[in-house]
Amino acid sequence: MDKKSRKQAIEELSLMLIYLTRFQDNNEFCRYMETSWKNYDFDAIDELEHKDLLYQPKKSKCVYLSEEGKEQARKLLAEYHIADKDILEKYEFRNIRPDETEQAVSIEQICFPPNEACTEQHMRERIAKASELFLVAVDKETGKIAGFLNGLSTDEYSFRDEFFTDADLHNPNGKNIMLLGLDVLPQYRRQGLGRELVFEYLRRERERDRRLVLLTCLKSRVKMYKKFGFQDNGIADSKWGGEEWHEMSCVIGIG
Ligand SMILES: CC(C)(COP(=O)(O)OP(=O)(O)OC[C@H]1O[C@@H](n2cnc3c(N)ncnc32)[C@H](O)[C@@H]1OP(=O)(O)O)[C@@H](O)C(=O)NCCC(=O)NCCS
Repeated sequence: MDKKSRKQAIEELSLMLIYLTRFQDNNEFCRYMETSWKNYDFDAIDELEHKDLLYQPKKSKCVYLSEEGKEQARKLLAEYHIADKDILEKYEFRNIRPDETEQAVSIEQICFPPNEACTEQHMRERIAKASELFLVAVDKETGKIAGFLNGLSTDEYSFRDEFFTDADLHNPNGKNIMLLGLDVLPQYRRQGLGRELVFEYLRRERERDRRLVLLTCLKSRVKMYKKFGFQDNGIADSKWGGEEWHEMSCVIGIG
């Protein structure tokens, strides 16, 4: 087998190390962001930036991997037989596939009472029209969905209940995201999957130059979303399921 060039090896090893050593920023407004120290071979870093696998803000000691950079790093880890973070070893995070619609419908019914759950018809429409905004975590052992987070994009700035029922409000180029459902099956809860779904979603949408992410939740969930970096905007203009909702938001860019 041909040997890898020294240059290519340094580049690949740097990419893997940057990926493996990335950590979450403690900045309370972007807890979801992952960063890595920049102290690797400068030529390799420049080359990786040239390939859009990472970016390095000027005068910063940090670098940020792009989604493509992470994807490449994961491929290399597989090639070199190196384990990833436990949660990424256990779950695959990706867009939902049309043939997984039934699963999503039944998970929604398990996770929410009938007055709050998205109906089968609305779930089907949401998946058909905005699958790129429907992130699922698939249990690699079973091949089945363990949890998901979905939403629509729009240029509107406040939440209204029609987003739950009218997938035609989805504007693929919209700068803002209305989150519509975070679901984790009971047997997968309290292990950090809900948090990972939210953070992964925010990282993806930040890279797509979105500005603002909005959601509504019951009072009992406000604390959880605050931990994820959302701010509570108070009682929402929503009558969904006949309950009182809080509107919460997270700024992810200036796009
Ligand atoms: C809410 C839900 C998505 C959380 O999923 P999860 O995978 O268990 O969440 P995580 O393990 O990532 O926990 C993240 C944080 O959420 C909080 N949290 C999760 N479940 C909670 C619960 N039942 N009560 C209070 N806080 C909770 C915890 O504070 C946790 O932070 P910590 O790790 O610092 O303690 C899941 O319980 C679920 O699907 N519930 C039914 C549907 C729902 O309520 N969705 C949200 C609607 S807005």
